[in-house]
Amino acid sequence: MMENIIPQNFHIDKEERNKLNGHNSFVVWFTGLSGSGKSTLANLVEKKLFETGIKTFSLDGDNIRSGLNKDLRFSADDRKENLRRIAEVAKLFIESGTVVIASFISPLKKDREYLKKTIGRQNFIEVFVNTSLDECERRDVKGLYKKARAGEIKNFTGIDAPYEKPENPDLEIKTEEENLEDALKRIVLHLEDKLKIS
Ligand code: PPS
Repeated sequence: MMENIIPQNFHIDKEERNKLNGHNSFVVWFTGLSGSGKSTLANLVEKKLFETGIKTFSLDGDNIRSGLNKDLRFSADDRKENLRRIAEVAKLFIESGTVVIASFISPLKKDREYLKKTIGRQNFIEVFVNTSLDECERRDVKGLYKKARAGEIKNFTGIDAPYEKPENPDLEIKTEEENLEDALKRIVLHLEDKLKIS
């Protein structure tokens, strides 16, 4: 597939851009069940970083699936392709000097391993938003669990499609035990060192 394709090298690279911006670029990847609180946390983290002058951009499941990935659904193959494309988009943003805040269910271990390998482990901070299925279903913010239980949505994560918990995430947020403010502080503290250019 890569036959006759010769990637161009540009004078300005990620290191130059990071130097100009005064911070490193990487992705903060939120994984967890639908309704676990990924997007809420991601939103707060982006706001906090943005307010301190960090260049940020958010990538989020529903948004990407309304545009770039609107041809994809929720089979294992489509989720894999969804995440493959997002990994490429994230890489471009990282290359541009941006801190990417990504929130995707990303339910399978092998797909998350792929993300780490493709984006680069050093550029990937995995945040597991660990909210129990019971609690997500109780909140049912979008009414999707109700539909999934009624059989109106197939392959719904946690109901009839798997969610494999990360074993060794960089950060784990138990939203049933920790309030948003404390979780936000913990995430931002973790990012402070990563942002510093050595
Ligand atoms: S994945 O698994 O990473 O490819 O999913 P993602 O791109 O993050 O998309 C998740 C959002 O899609 C909506 N939705 C579903 N989620 C899970 N399973 C099924 N079948 C499904 N159908 C629609 C839902 O709003 C998810 O958003 P969040 O923010 O996670 O609730």
